[in-house]
Amino acid sequence: LENGFLSIIVLGASGDLAKKKTFPALFNLFRQGFLHPKEVHIFGYARTKITDDELRDRIRGYLIRDKGASSKDSEDVTKFLQLIKYVSGSYDAEEGFQLLDKEISKHEVSKNSAEGSSRRLFYLALPPSVYPSVCKMIRHFCMNKTDLGGWTRIVVEKPFGKDLQSAEELSSQIGELFDERQIYRIDHYLGKELVQNLLVLRFANRFFLPLWNRDNIDNVQIVFREDFGTEGRGGYFDQYGIIRDIIQNHLLQVLCLVAMEKPVSLKPEHIRDEKVKVLQSVLPIKDDEVALGQYDGYRDDPTVPDNSNTPTFATMVLRIHNERWEGVPFILKAGKALNSRKAEIRVQFKDVPGDIFKCKKQGRNEFVIRLQPSEAMYMKLTVKQPGLEMSTVQSELDLSYGQRYQGVTIPEAYERLILDTIRGDQQHFVRRDELKAAWEIFTPLLHRIDDGELNPLPYKPGSRGPEAADELLAKAGYVQTHGYIWIPPTL
Ligand code: BG6
Repeated sequence: LENGFLSIIVLGASGDLAKKKTFPALFNLFRQGFLHPKEVHIFGYARTKITDDELRDRIRGYLIRDKGASSKDSEDVTKFLQLIKYVSGSYDAEEGFQLLDKEISKHEVSKNSAEGSSRRLFYLALPPSVYPSVCKMIRHFCMNKTDLGGWTRIVVEKPFGKDLQSAEELSSQIGELFDERQIYRIDHYLGKELVQNLLVLRFANRFFLPLWNRDNIDNVQIVFREDFGTEGRGGYFDQYGIIRDIIQNHLLQVLCLVAMEKPVSLKPEHIRDEKVKVLQSVLPIKDDEVALGQYDGYRDDPTVPDNSNTPTFATMVLRIHNERWEGVPFILKAGKALNSRKAEIRVQFKDVPGDIFKCKKQGRNEFVIRLQPSEAMYMKLTVKQPGLEMSTVQSELDLSYGQRYQGVTIPEAYERLILDTIRGDQQHFVRRDELKAAWEIFTPLLHRIDDGELNPLPYKPGSRGPEAADELLAKAGYVQTHGYIWIPPTL
């Protein structure tokens, strides 16, 4: 960090997101020396009337994830918590924000004003319904003091609206108050190690360059599975459903990075320009290329209406109408309460032409990027079965992170993204036109579901989801390999 003062203000400080994600991420940055006590002050802001110490007590238990914290850990926790002050106030009244500004300013002016002494990062760990009023309050009462230099930045997270129109409305409300350069829209999938690796993989390796197109790739799957339901969040989830919760943002962002053309440079705007182009090339989704599901028992949640038709599972095919991808289905699949928890990208190649080995029987070449858990990438290929016979078998080239990078801790997505917001790097954040293009793709489908024209099929919790999804996969051209299972190497 440059010299000067940095204030990180977490609005919604006593909420779930703040406790589970924001503060732990800040704590990890603190431990790694990125937040120096001499220049960083952290503020929690929320409506509840509590003291600094009461907020600290609420956060404490979330900071160290592993059980059996060492004494060094507790020392770090104590030091970190000392950086946090609490201000209470409402989200739409001047007094609270005036008080907040006063508290922030206190330390900004108390020392000599080095350049950039007034750097203010507002993290909105809040429901989007209050974004406009909170942004207004910040704009009017809490901007950085220009005579001290620095900046003001706003960090927000989905849901950004419920469809194209509501998202655009929210964007314009915020856009009237802040410049795009000041707005950081988090999609935490963009902070995952293997998602960030996509750019390097694709554009720094000769291997992939000639193969990454419709001539060689048969289909691409981007899959998110969770082995638990909407426990405790049914009320929220029911308003949104799996498409808005996972597919329209997380999986679509991954699709952009898999499908986009090479950016002119690594400048954030160059990368985001390419992502927008991919999104704009996606054709309208066809009803017969969608399979929806809702797990049995979902409606038992008292916060979910008995007649809810909100999907907790969806598989759909996206088609990118450009020279590279014409005819290649991009299958997006996400589900709650399934039989496993993982997120992966699966690129399946076409069959070998003029095959003399009966490769078809073995299965196709696949390049799999496992985002989580057990980060890995592996290439499924056909090799000679070791031994006297000239027979073939499917095997893999495997780069498993746990094995290859022993002792390396992979940072949490939020940690990385918050550091980017401090550094002013918007590469891994969603730009306004990107968000708009993303909503354009899904809005017609979402409206049909909301209107009850498309209904989810029931599936058993702990299953693969509705059978219709596997049928859709097969129809799209995906060939499942039987008898081959990739087993992550054990250390
Ligand atoms: C969130 C969704 O954005 O991502 C949750 O709202 C989901 O429903 C979560 O559980 C998954 O994130 P991760 O990092 O655990 O894959």
